[in-house]
Amino acid sequence: MNILVTGGAGFIGANYVRQVLDAGGDRIVNLDALTYAGNLENLAGYDENPDYRFVRGDIRDRDLLDALFAEERIEAVVNFAAESHVDRSIDGPREFLEANIMGTQCLLEAARQAGVARFLQVSTDEVYGSLGAEGLFTEASPIQPNSPYAASKAAADLVCRAYFHTYGFPVLITRCSNNYGPYQFPEKLIPLMIANALEDRPLPVYGDGRNVRDWLYVADHCSAIDTVLRRGTPGEVYNIGGCNEMENIAIIRRLLGLLEKDESLITYVTDRPGHDRRYAIDASKIERDLGWTPAHRFDDGIAATVAWYLDNRSWWESVRDGTYQSYYDRMYGAEGRHGSS
Ligand code: NAD
Ligand code: DAU
Repeated sequence: MNILVTGGAGFIGANYVRQVLDAGGDRIVNLDALTYAGNLENLAGYDENPDYRFVRGDIRDRDLLDALFAEERIEAVVNFAAESHVDRSIDGPREFLEANIMGTQCLLEAARQAGVARFLQVSTDEVYGSLGAEGLFTEASPIQPNSPYAASKAAADLVCRAYFHTYGFPVLITRCSNNYGPYQFPEKLIPLMIANALEDRPLPVYGDGRNVRDWLYVADHCSAIDTVLRRGTPGEVYNIGGCNEMENIAIIRRLLGLLEKDESLITYVTDRPGHDRRYAIDASKIERDLGWTPAHRFDDGIAATVAWYLDNRSWWESVRDGTYQSYYDRMYGAEGRHGSS
């Protein structure tokens, strides 16, 4: 298939591009605006792959989308592109609404006009809001987002739903729990705690540290997305989860143990406003209907993740000091390997 992946220079998108290209048989065009979260080093080594093309651009750029759909004969779209960090959405909601809602609508419309056969919207369990001590989110749970980020993703899901019902456009929606693994930007809980611990800096725990998330290794999220893209039923929503609920403080203690660092680094800080207490996913639909199950146990996935951050210190150091943002110029600027002069 000719697949347009958007946001493929981010954490999950890059893992997905790698997984699909490594499997072979598909062509991927990766459209990414390279916001602060986009890092082409996440795909270093893939530039020379004849089945891969990177295009720097925004999913809100309709002219660019129309040109790409036509010249690349795109058959399927996987939309990862989004502002993704809850804390940033609290500081500045507007860009989240513009990129995540209007961006998705622009992409949907361009894909529909181009006659694309499959459109997968990568959504999140955060659209369901927060759970108490009991229960799981199912695909039928009410949409009750609590943060500006979650609200923007929920709105995008509803626009996708409308495109299916109104135009018969073949949209699939996946809603996944918290991911962890290689190439995750060190603003999110697990890579932030690993990087801070390695630098003997305080580990900022929001509130009482007892908020619960359901953690899934990123390769498993990618395999689930690919399964839904190829075999899911248009118009359907598929929850994706790891059946692996953990309190934040337990994750942090586990990381400190793996890194052989002292728990005195743990520092309780003011809670996130509107902080969702608990997420937990019922993923029985994708397991039952499409036969997908996670391949990684948490113990193995978290050990592999810690090993990756230890082995790739220069990656997260260049993210933290900002030098990763010069990669595009180094590769694609006038003097770069893929420069046009
Ligand atoms: P990320 O922030 O690491 O990456 C987002 C990517 O999108 C970046 O490369 C960025 O440059 C690009 N981007 C942002 N706005 C764009 C725009 N307007 N046009 C083109 N590119 C743009 O995010 P992530 O953690 O990899 O998440 C990817 C997707 O998966 C998001 O839609 C997110 O909502 C969803 N999701 C994430 C998780 C998680 O745990 N991280 C879980 C469930 C769902
Ligand atoms: O559930 C899926 C969602 O998971 C995705 O849709 C989002 O894109 C992704 O960012 C993630 O959202 P969370 O808000 O759950 O992830 P984050 O890593 O920001 O925080 C995880 C938990 O850790 C949450 O309870 C807040 C807490 N936390 C986070 C940070 C960054 C801390 O205690 N300290 C921190 O410094």
